[in-house]
Parts: sequence; structure tokens; C-alpha cells
Amino acid sequence: MAAERGHWGSRLGFILAAGGSAVGLGNIWGFPYKTGENGGGLFVLVYLACVALIGLPIMMAEIFIGKTTQTSPVGAFRAMSRPGSAWMGVGWLGVVAAFIILSFYSVIAGWSLHYVWISITTTFSDMTPGEIGGIFGQVVTNPALCSFWHVLFMVLTISIVVAGVKAGLETWSRILMPALFILLLVLLVYAMVKGNFAQGLKFLFVPNPDNFKWSSVPEAMGLAFFSLSLGMGALITYGSYLRTDEDLVSASITVSLLDTSVALLAGIILFPIIFAADGNPAGGPGLVFTTIPIAFAEIPGGVVLAPLFFLLLTFTALTSSISLLEVATAYFIDERGWTRTKATLVTGGAVMAIGIPSAISGGSRLFGAGMQTLTDPLYRGEGKDWFNALVDLSFNLMLPIGGLGIALFVAWRVDDAVREAGFSAGSKLGRLYWGWLWLLRYLVPVAIVVVLFNALGIFELLFGGGNV
Ligand code: PHE
Repeated sequence: MAAERGHWGSRLGFILAAGGSAVGLGNIWGFPYKTGENGGGLFVLVYLACVALIGLPIMMAEIFIGKTTQTSPVGAFRAMSRPGSAWMGVGWLGVVAAFIILSFYSVIAGWSLHYVWISITTTFSDMTPGEIGGIFGQVVTNPALCSFWHVLFMVLTISIVVAGVKAGLETWSRILMPALFILLLVLLVYAMVKGNFAQGLKFLFVPNPDNFKWSSVPEAMGLAFFSLSLGMGALITYGSYLRTDEDLVSASITVSLLDTSVALLAGIILFPIIFAADGNPAGGPGLVFTTIPIAFAEIPGGVVLAPLFFLLLTFTALTSSISLLEVATAYFIDERGWTRTKATLVTGGAVMAIGIPSAISGGSRLFGAGMQTLTDPLYRGEGKDWFNALVDLSFNLMLPIGGLGIALFVAWRVDDAVREAGFSAGSKLGRLYWGWLWLLRYLVPVAIVVVLFNALGIFELLFGGGNV
């Protein structure tokens, strides 16, 4: 019932909430670690191209679907096609992706929560960079510890989503986003003064084919999807709480710019610190957790700032995790008629359970080494544990496939007049419509299909693996 459906308090509220969904671990944890593993500058260039040419048009398409139908993904695809239509599968895929992504997302957020505690109880300034880095290994191989923080983070997520659209999602985003930004600026000054700033920037911005592999292309695209919260209906859902006369074009541009700036900022902060400490940029998923405490060991006031940083990192993770849980929750509310409380508790509880294998995979034989052997053939000798397998599955396959479905649907299935009117409503940038449609019709689907082939290793099979 439209009258009862929650809405954002204002357009700024939507931008902050969508920005809060986009900005998260993907930017501060994911971007630096993926960039480090894939050799730096060239990867960043491909990433930026993916954001501008593939991500932005899909973001507009998602918000368009949500805003027009005023309902969550599965129902939205039904409303814009017909009951029982195969397009509803795209909505379904999104709901499944929400469960999977949130299950490992809250494990990383749990590490971050634990680091709040570690930074309060440990004096980093008494330790060498090597010793500080070593803490991460001890954390991830401790199954009980990781499970505990994962569950706690899920409890936080659930309690916000229970409160609903305006009270829960919007209020928190308003407070926490600016606070994180300010702390990042403090770290930026540190990186400029104390880090190896020149080498860091060179690594990030000078294209260099070393360590850039065929598989780096799907990784860059997957990261763009993940970081912008695309391909699984989060922005369809958020768009459905937007009034139909709101301007989706400038909102999408703002959110993408915000998201990209935070990712780049994280890189500009992290790499100079890594190089100054003789660290390894390809240090994997632990990168931000091993690097940032090294900086805070030296910064005056680091004792206070370090816990604050991890607290804010946890909070940005929270503004993203609530959007992930909202996708699953909104499905049960809109499609099954559940109350918000019931839907949130059931979906959140399920995520808690399926997150346990990720939480323990660093220290478990079964989900760690066992899984690694199992996935060996798939990853040509470098198998992934449960956690990393899920990260790859969602980044490199589920989100791009979801994005492809959304692009094809909006570009080819939706009625022309509805599409044009929805895109231009309330916007001064309505003349971008034809450019958007062209990208969505041709470039986006072709690029995603090529990249998916790539992700499945088809180019490596044809042309040989290794560097491009
Ligand atoms: N964009 C979020 C991040 O960067 C993660 C996310 C992905 C949120 C997909 C919602 C949907 O951390």
C-alpha cells in the first residue's frame, strides 16, 4: 500500500543513505587490497572506466526501477513486465546475493570491530611494523573470536533495520558519513608527511602492466559493482523509498563521485604508508588492518584516533550492511506480507548462521584448507577458502550477472515512454537520456559479457594465462 510505504525525509536523505550504502568496506578494505594485488595504476584505470561507463548507467537503471515501481526488486520486475515473467529471476538473484554478500561482509566488519578493542588495549607505538602486522594473522585464525564479532555486528545491523526506513537508515547515515570523511583527511595529512607519498601515488596512478593479469579485468569490474552497491537490487530497494518526482540523474552522479573519491582517498592514504614501512602492497584482504595501525603508532594522539578509525570503519560498514539486509527484508515485507520485525529477524538470523563458515574459515580445517583443496582445480592450483570463494563468487559473477539483467531489462523490455519519463522526472539533466540508453543497450551488456567470459577463464584458456 503506497500510503504506508516509508519514504526518505528529503533528497539529501536519499543521497546520504545511497552514499552510505555505496561507501563501505568495498572502498576502504576492498579497493586498496584489490589494487595492491593487481599491480596498481592500470587496475585503477580499468576500475575508473568501469565505474563511469558501466556502473553509473546501471545505477541510474536501478534507481529508475525502484522509483517507478515503488517496490522491492522481485515485485519491481513483475510490475514492469508481467506476473511469472522470467525477469523476476533477476530480482531473485539479488535476494540470494544479499544473503551471500552480507554473510562475509559482516565477518570483515567484525574484524574491524575487534580492532577497535585491539587498538584500545594495545600500545602500537611499542611495536615494530612487523609485529603490528602479525596481529591480523592471530585474529583471523581464531574462529571463536571472529564468530563472536560477526554475530555482534549482525545484531547491530538487525537492530537498525528493524527501526525502518527513516528512523533507522537515514538518521545513522547523516551522522556517520561526515565523521569518517574527517578522519580520512587526518590520515591523508599523515600519509603526505610521513608516508612515501611519491611512490604511493606512482603505484596508484601510473599504469604499469606488472602484475596486471587477464583476471584483473573482471576483478576491477566486480569491485566497481560491489563498491557502488550494484547488481543485486540494493539501489532498486532504496530507489523505491524515493518519491517519483525526484531527480535520479544527479543523485546517481553524486553517489558515484562520492564513492569513487572515498576509494581513491583510501588508496592515497594506504599505499604511501605501506611503502614507507617496506610492506607488501599485495598483502591481500588484511591490508587495511595491517597498515592503518602502523600509521597510528606514530601519529600523536594515535591512541585515541586508532580506535576511532576502526569504529568509523565499522559504522560505514553498517550503513552498507543495512542496505544489504534491507534487500532481503523488503522482499519478505512486500512479497510475503511479513511485518518488518519478523522479516528482519528471520533474514538477519539466517545471515548470522551462514556467515559462520566465513568467520571460521581462517582457522578451520574444513572451511579453510579443506575448501582450498576443493576449489584448487577452479583456481588453477591456488584454491580459495570458504570466505575468499564467496568474495570471488559475488564480486566476479553474481553482481555482474545481476547488473547485466538489470541493464537488458531497462534497455530492451521497459516501455519507452515510461523509461524516458522516469529518467527525466525532476531532472535538469534529462538530455543525457539518449546517451544513457545507448550505453545501457550496447556498451554495458557487451562489456559485461566479455568480462564474464574473462572471469570464467576463457581468454586464459585461449591465449594463455599470466600477464596481459
Ligand atoms: N557498496 C558496499 C561497500 O562498498 C557493499 C555493498 C554491495 C552494499 C552491494 C550493498 C550492495 O562496502
